[in-house]
Amino acid sequence: MAEPEKPADSPAKVVPVAAPVAVPAVTAAAVPAAPKPAAKAKKDSGKPVDIRRRLIWACIWGYLGVNFLMFLRFFFPRALFEPKTVFSIGFPSDFGLGVETKFQRDFRIWVVRNPERLFVIFARCTHLGCTPDWKQNDQKFKCPCHGSGYDSEGVNFEGPAPRPMDRAHLELDATGQIIVDTNRLFVRDLKVGRDEFNNDGSFLNA
Ligand code: FES
Repeated sequence: MAEPEKPADSPAKVVPVAAPVAVPAVTAAAVPAAPKPAAKAKKDSGKPVDIRRRLIWACIWGYLGVNFLMFLRFFFPRALFEPKTVFSIGFPSDFGLGVETKFQRDFRIWVVRNPERLFVIFARCTHLGCTPDWKQNDQKFKCPCHGSGYDSEGVNFEGPAPRPMDRAHLELDATGQIIVDTNRLFVRDLKVGRDEFNNDGSFLNA
C-alpha cells in the first residue's frame, strides 16, 4: 500500500506572538473609593430601639449610683451627739442676779441667781419637752411650741405646762467651781405632793 505522500518540506509554521498589551497605570485616583464602613450610627437616631437602649443604660447607671451612695453612707453612721450631762460652769461669783442663758445651747440649762440662792433650771418645757426661750423684756421663759410661760425662776404661770421646769443637781468641786449634773433633776409637782426644790443639791446659797 502506498504511503501517503508527504507534503513537501515547508517552512516551520510561525505562530504570531501577540504584542504585549500595555496595561494602563493604575493611579489612586483611578481606583474607585472603597465603600466606607457605614458611618457610625448616630447616638440617638430617635428610633424606638435607641430610646429603649438609652433607658436601659440610664437604669443601670442609676442603680449603680444608688448602690455606691449607700456604700459611702456606711462611713457616716448616724450618731447622735448628746451634750455632756456632768460639767463645770465656773465659780458662783461668776453669776450676778438674774438669768444667765449662755449655757443653753451646749448644755440646755439656765443659771439663775436670786437674793437667796443660785440654782440651775433644766431647759425643758414640762408640757411636751420643747426648749423655751428666755424673753429678757418680759422677764419670762416662753415655750415656742404651745405657748407655756414660766417666770424667771422657771415656775409655770400660763399655757398648758403642768408644773415648773426641773432643776439640776449642783455641787462645788475642790477648786470651788460649780459642777452641774443634769442626770439628777429636782421636781416640783404640787398636784402629786412632790416638792424637791429645797432638797440638798438643788441650789447653792448665794
Ligand atoms: S411643749 Fe411647751 S407648751 Fe407644749
